[in-house]
Amino acid sequence: MYYKKIFDLLPDYIFIHDKDGYIKKMNNTSLKYFKGCENIYTIIKEERIINKIYNHSSDLPLKAGETSLILPNRDKIVINITSRNFETSFSKHYKLTIFKDITHVKDVEKQFCIAQKQGAIGAMAAGFAHDFKNILNNIKLYLRLIMQSGDLSQVSKYAGIIENMIQDSNNFIRHVLNVTRDTSANYEEVMIAELIREDLNIIERILPKNINIDFIDMAKNAIVRLIRSRFTQVIFNLVLNSVEAIGQNSGDILISIERTNINEKPFVKLSISDNGPGIPANIIDRIFEMFFTTKPNGSGLGLSMVKMAINDFGGYISVESQEGSSTTFKIFLPEVVYGESV
Ligand SMILES: Nc1ncnc2c1ncn2[C@@H]1O[C@H](COP(=O)(O)OP(=O)(O)O)[C@@H](O)[C@H]1O
Ligand SMILES: [Mg+2]
Repeated sequence: MYYKKIFDLLPDYIFIHDKDGYIKKMNNTSLKYFKGCENIYTIIKEERIINKIYNHSSDLPLKAGETSLILPNRDKIVINITSRNFETSFSKHYKLTIFKDITHVKDVEKQFCIAQKQGAIGAMAAGFAHDFKNILNNIKLYLRLIMQSGDLSQVSKYAGIIENMIQDSNNFIRHVLNVTRDTSANYEEVMIAELIREDLNIIERILPKNINIDFIDMAKNAIVRLIRSRFTQVIFNLVLNSVEAIGQNSGDILISIERTNINEKPFVKLSISDNGPGIPANIIDRIFEMFFTTKPNGSGLGLSMVKMAINDFGGYISVESQEGSSTTFKIFLPEVVYGESV
């Protein structure tokens, strides 16, 4: 009895079918979308995976692969398929095939690719930074010519050249900003703790062994309004900076959220601290600047993007650091409170 309940309650899509794919039973999760479906192979469609399941004959579980499905409600999900053989009392050869919905994991992986793309953009930007310097040097040169020239027609000619050069650099900055902003994404109201946990699930998988990361939620059920993908970039960038700061030493990163007020309005304060080397006082005011970096291969874009995202979400970011012992980034995001007039 209980087993049947558990079978039905599991969030995975579970099917019991024969070798030829004919479905004998499915759990409630599967029924919701695949009721009336007779053969599991018509759901999977991908021949490579079907062949694997069909040909699998050992007692060991089979990792059949990943594929995507369009559900009847038009949602597209990505699933990971496992299958194993088993016998029933009728001693028939049945297969238990399970689809695990990994849509979110795939989403986060995509975000990670975007973060990496930003790395590429950073490298690109380093190249452009060089061009930038040239432009500035040229502007300086023409300014000097203006200052030395008594001829008014020459002055306006040089001024025109300078104006064009400034326009060029403006276009470039706009270009960099546009590629790094995911304009297709939408605002959502989300439970911030859940989002952080989802990101941490991925981060923990790739975190170096010498670094420990913890999350404390002191803002139970707090909801904020933001663009999911950009928030993930914020977390990734800040954690990555901490990881890079800690380096080979062993270190801790602590993420925490709590409720607070700013001008009597409810905010969620998100803190990300590390016990790395800290930020020297003479550069701390510059770290949010575009292209400011102290790393040989840094892009100097991470924090400027973080700040841009947080400001777009209607929030604020600040930093505190003790040289030689710790760095804490504090982010304040407006809390969405339902049922209250603004
Ligand atoms: N957690 C941290 N600990 C120490 N220094 C940091 C930390 N986060 C950022 N910084 C400093 O801020 C600079 C700018 O960071 P960022 O904008 O992400 O660019 P990048 O990581 O490419 O250098 C870094 O080069 C580093 O000097
Ligand atoms: Mg960085």
